[in-house]
Amino acid sequence: MIKVAFFDTHVYDKNAFEKYNDNTEISIDFYETKLNKNTVDLARNHDAVCVFVNDTLDKEVIDKLYENGVKMIALRCAGYNNVDLKRAFGKLHVLHVPAYSPYAVAEHAMALLLTSTRRIHKAYIRTKDFNFSLDGLTGFNLHSKTVGVVGTGKIGRIFIDICNGFGMNVIAYDKYPIPNSDINYVSLDELFKESDIISLHCPLTDETKHMINEESINKMKKGVVIINTSRGALVDALALLNGIKDRKVGAACLDVYEEEGDVFFKDYSGHIIDDDLLARLISMPNVIVTSHQAFLTNEALDNIASTTISNIKSFFNDNKSSVNELCYRCGKTDTCMKKRQEKCF
Ligand code: NAI
Repeated sequence: MIKVAFFDTHVYDKNAFEKYNDNTEISIDFYETKLNKNTVDLARNHDAVCVFVNDTLDKEVIDKLYENGVKMIALRCAGYNNVDLKRAFGKLHVLHVPAYSPYAVAEHAMALLLTSTRRIHKAYIRTKDFNFSLDGLTGFNLHSKTVGVVGTGKIGRIFIDICNGFGMNVIAYDKYPIPNSDINYVSLDELFKESDIISLHCPLTDETKHMINEESINKMKKGVVIINTSRGALVDALALLNGIKDRKVGAACLDVYEEEGDVFFKDYSGHIIDDDLLARLISMPNVIVTSHQAFLTNEALDNIASTTISNIKSFFNDNKSSVNELCYRCGKTDTCMKKRQEKCF
């Protein structure tokens, strides 16, 4: 039987994964705590750990998991910026869920944009209180506005389709543009200068960290709307706050935040939030924050659970590599085992 230590468990995770917890082929121990150096010992006597975006898989945790006999890390998400893949190489195999519902995230990005531009969040609160005044609720049409999409992968492309449906003028930047596509690619600088709305759909890497910063905000149009449903650290939150205070940034729609690991996914109502930057951003009338919720649809949760379980089973039962295995040298070396359909090490 494969024993799995499941970290950062929430009710919706348990609902989606419990049906696979049959105690014959797979046995899952659900832990509410996140995985980090203080909790890593919970993984002792398990074959795999199942983790999410805010679990910590740095050198120390990876070494400890390895010492404890854990053989694989099953990420129940697409992004893997929280895993030190280089350190894991030769010790722990890392598998992820590359796509579970790009529609969920792209639709959430548009939901945030519409909420912001049409002041739905304000109107909802007003009418709940029988306040039917329209003052301060004036929005703007999306039709004919220029939207700049950074990252034209699975989610970015669906977001582009949605924007096209609204009659928007779509421009895009990707480090690896799709050849012969009908996407109107421009340079990143041009995208910053031309866009009324900017939506981020690229991964977090050393290169993309703080791509929205004081310098890039200075290049943008006055009133620009910035949407981030990718990873918090793509945006320098202090620079964003300053851009909002300077009236340069017209609105921000954030599903992710650089320091979200300390607060997101928990109920802190009734508590005093220590993160002044987050508190100040949330206090702004033109900032909408959702707590890394873009993926959260029934369809996505079902896909996450079935792919994660299939990753775990195939890793322990098959000798072949999995297309969902991640390796820091994937495809980059002549000795890449995946090319030979073998496990990475
Ligand atoms: P993907 O891998 O299909 O697409 C990413 C795109 O970014 C690729 O086209 C790639 O060429 C491009 N890219 C790579 N480096 C770049 C750079 N330096 N500058 C510009 N573009 C660059 O990934 P997918 O599925 O579209 O996801 C995008 C991001 O969305 C993920 O990296 C993840 O961080 C985030 N995400 C957020 C979720 C949420 O709940 N908020 C859920 C799922 C993903």
